[in-house]
Amino acid sequence: MDIYANRAGNKPSTGASISIKIIPLETILNILNLSKTYQSAGRMLTVLDNINFAIATGSTNAIVGPSGSGKTTLLGLCAGLDRSSSGSVELNGINLSNLTEDQRAQVRNQHVGFIFQNFQLLPTLTALENVMVPLELRNERNIKARALDLLDKVGLADRGHHYPSQLSGGEQQRVSLARAFSNAPKILFADEPTGNLDAETSEKVVKLIFDLNKEAGTTLVVVTHDLELAAKTQRIIRIKGGKLISDEKTING
Ligand SMILES: Nc1ncnc2c1ncn2[C@@H]1O[C@H](COP(=O)(O)OP(=O)(O)OP(=O)(O)O)[C@@H](O)[C@H]1O
Ligand SMILES: [Mg+2]
Repeated sequence: MDIYANRAGNKPSTGASISIKIIPLETILNILNLSKTYQSAGRMLTVLDNINFAIATGSTNAIVGPSGSGKTTLLGLCAGLDRSSSGSVELNGINLSNLTEDQRAQVRNQHVGFIFQNFQLLPTLTALENVMVPLELRNERNIKARALDLLDKVGLADRGHHYPSQLSGGEQQRVSLARAFSNAPKILFADEPTGNLDAETSEKVVKLIFDLNKEAGTTLVVVTHDLELAAKTQRIIRIKGGKLISDEKTING
């Protein structure tokens, strides 16, 4: 069938004309019956128990809950850093459960930014080199200039040559943020992004994260104990003992 027939003005006399629309994915992340168990001291430990939710593209979301409730584990599964015991994670239309470790790494590099609770900077690389890694993996151009610009955005232009051990906790946190921004992710997962920061720096970091959402449409999923930060998002998902106990829109939602 010639789908361009209409363009040539040859309107079909009967039947519907064919229109092709590109529909953006409305759901960037879909979590279905997700569970994670560990074998610990000969016993089964259920850390996540049948979690279900979907995250809308471009939305801002907080995951809150007591220490040990499974938030970091959940974020790691959502971002394809880890594999579930059962259930599925669909990220940007791709079911991560079916992928190999290498394929998941590729998806992460293409779509995902991650700010870790314990930073996870590479200790043998400087701050600047840490920010350059995702850009190098993508074979991008002007890598050094772009990494410097990102460090400048988080207020660390003069710390590029420092190794992680030569940075304060809050500075490492901000390098981790600059690195997460470097591949212009479709979705940013942030695990306690303000956990190690003073009030003023924390405010700057929160602004950077929300600016990324406003300007680039980056979907945010933020794990936090900071209820003020959680209240800035559109939706709060509560986890307790590995179970989803509530999922509510905020006044921004
Ligand atoms: N590799 C592992 N083996 C066994 N148990 C684990 C493993 N990783 C995490 N856990 C357990 O899973 C539970 C959830 O851990 P997780 O790090 O997801 O909690 P969290 O909600 O992020 O806590 P916090 O607020 O303190 O960061 C904890 O009880 C932890 O001890
Ligand atoms: Mg945690």
